[in-house]
Amino acid sequence: MPWQKVAAVKDIKNGNGIPVVAPGRKKPIALFCANHQYFAISDECSHAYAPLSDSPVEEYIVTCKWHGAQFDIRTGKGIGPLAYSDVRTFPVRITGEMIEVEI
Ligand code: FES
Repeated sequence: MPWQKVAAVKDIKNGNGIPVVAPGRKKPIALFCANHQYFAISDECSHAYAPLSDSPVEEYIVTCKWHGAQFDIRTGKGIGPLAYSDVRTFPVRITGEMIEVEI
């Protein structure tokens, strides 16, 4: 699987998420920085498909802003009854000033 540059390190602040697009993937990816570590998950809640990238993150848990389903951004594991299924995760690495995701 190829690594794709999706953002610069300076594009994302600790404790936040941003949507990114990777070549070769039609759907966006939610890229998060939490505790100064980077994580990438599918930018689509498994309940009713809200974007997760602009939902609040505490520690490693993102809470969907539409109805409150939660996901662990490290594993994609859904938490609570509205998280109908887990969300996909993607490996992340830093190369220089860039963030890369393996698609
Ligand atoms: S769309 Fe995310 S909880 Fe409903």
